Amino acid sequence: MKILVTGSCGFVGTQLIPSLIKSGHDIVGVDIMWFGNHLQEGQNLRIIETDIRDVDSIPMEGIEAVVHLANVANDPCSDLNSKLNWEVNALATKFLVEKAIDHDVKQFIYASSGSVYGVKEEPEVTEDLSLVPISDYNKTKMVSERVLLSYTDEIAIQIIRPATICGYSPRMRLDLSVNILTMLAVTRGEITVFGGDQTRPNIHLKDMIRVYHHFLDNPQLTGVYNAGFENLSIMEIAQKAAAKTGAKIVVTPSNDPRSYRLNSKKLLSTGFEPKYGVETAMDEVIELFEQGTLQNEDIHHNIKTMVNLGLDKAV
Ligand SMILES: NC(=O)c1ccc[n+]([C@@H]2O[C@H](COP(=O)([O-])OP(=O)(O)OC[C@H]3O[C@@H](n4cnc5c(N)ncnc54)[C@H](O)[C@@H]3O)[C@@H](O)[C@H]2O)c1
Repeated sequence: MKILVTGSCGFVGTQLIPSLIKSGHDIVGVDIMWFGNHLQEGQNLRIIETDIRDVDSIPMEGIEAVVHLANVANDPCSDLNSKLNWEVNALATKFLVEKAIDHDVKQFIYASSGSVYGVKEEPEVTEDLSLVPISDYNKTKMVSERVLLSYTDEIAIQIIRPATICGYSPRMRLDLSVNILTMLAVTRGEITVFGGDQTRPNIHLKDMIRVYHHFLDNPQLTGVYNAGFENLSIMEIAQKAAAKTGAKIVVTPSNDPRSYRLNSKKLLSTGFEPKYGVETAMDEVIELFEQGTLQNEDIHHNIKTMVNLGLDKAV
């Protein structure tokens, strides 16, 4: 299948694309390359450096499915520049799906976020619960979901609400909860936990990639699906990292109320089974730091990189 992947050079895209090529797909990747590019073009891969806000620059000829990952990809980055966030995360999604429909693309897979639920006390956060987004990032994800769902008569819309992802990618992110707590444990021997009671669902990157394969292989699975399997408090994550490294935990007050669990029974009922977990990701991060192949650099933190690029100013 010929697949367009937006955000191809990001944390997820950089691992997803080689895996799709291995399964026999032809890929066109588009990315603005804020975090560089670790992919190499080849027979089955064309990479275009472009801004998805310029929809005319995105080739759609012959594309059968779109995997839409390109976004300002977390809460603090979205708060950095509201205009940029709304244009990239919401407006560009509308123009992208309309162009896909015009070109008779069959499937559109969207990386939303489990954080669209906001703060939820319910023990089982299923897809039918109300969305109470508390940040601009959550709001743009929710708006994009709703815009996409308005096109269900014209294209198969598959919306995934991933948990926080953990694990290794050549385009590494150390600003994700499991990755950062493990990094602190292994590099400082001390994990600073802000609050700690907040619950976060998790998914290993390798399982995230398997989820995208699952939806590409099953275009009949339309609608909205949670994708998160280990609901752990930040303190539980820190304790797991401490147990692996001998690091001590220091607790400081938090002003981050985001806390939610994800129930992914709907996804599991379609035949998907997770194979990896938080502990696998921790082992990967520990090994990379111990080998010295990974360092704590700004490029691995979205907010620091975006500020370094001047993206906090109007663009
Ligand atoms: N990583 C997670 O834990 C997680 C969890 C839930 C949802 N998601 C979603 O999954 C998707 C991928 O996340 P990721 O972790 O790979 O993030 P990432 O920041 O590593 O990748 C996003 C990519 O999009 C690109 N991009 C941003 N704006 C663009 C634009 N205007 N035009 C072209 N390219 C642009 C960036 O250069 C980057 O390479 C995002 O939509 C994110 O919101 C991620």
